[in-house]
Amino acid sequence: MAELHPVCAPLAFLLGTWQGTGTGVYPTIEDFSYAEEVSFTHAGKPFVAYTQRTKDAGSGLPLHAEAGYLRPQEGGRVELVLVQPSGIAELLEGTVEDQNIQLASNAVLGTGSAKPVTATERRFWVEGEVLYSSVAMAAVGLELQPHVVSEMYRLS
Ligand code: HEM
Repeated sequence: MAELHPVCAPLAFLLGTWQGTGTGVYPTIEDFSYAEEVSFTHAGKPFVAYTQRTKDAGSGLPLHAEAGYLRPQEGGRVELVLVQPSGIAELLEGTVEDQNIQLASNAVLGTGSAKPVTATERRFWVEGEVLYSSVAMAAVGLELQPHVVSEMYRLS
């Protein structure tokens, strides 16, 4: 296996596969619960690949999924480029410090048929054995507010 690129060292705490559960809210939809699996991998290059998939907690049917790349920068900065099958693409920038990544979008784009999303904020943070992941969004004409939050445990 390739050696971790030195600029990825601040992201090493994420590497591997994590599984858990989450909950979602938004003023325009019913609250929901989901199961989630995420993987963070590297190939010796100066980025970390991220994939995520979720399932409805009750029916087990697929819900949201996304894939992208975390691109660490000098001085504790990090970028995330991300796409979703719902037709949305996000470019986010932020910081990584003490196993805590905080990102805000500098662009959110949608295909012609995608629901309108104008801004997102995301966090990934580890406390003890738990990886937490959260997304807030400004969507369908509403202000930035929480959409999903989850807790996951390491599988590998
Ligand atoms: C764990 C991640 C996520 C899960 C499990 C999830 C799940 C859901 C569910 C179940 C709904 C309601 C039914 C539907 O419209 O499909 C929904 C609505 C929506 N989600 Fe998510 N979502 C996630 C992440 C995201 C992200 C990252 C974005 C945008 C960047 C997003 C944007 C939206 C939008 C725009 C709606 C529609 C709201 C409306 O119609 O008023 N979701 N999501």
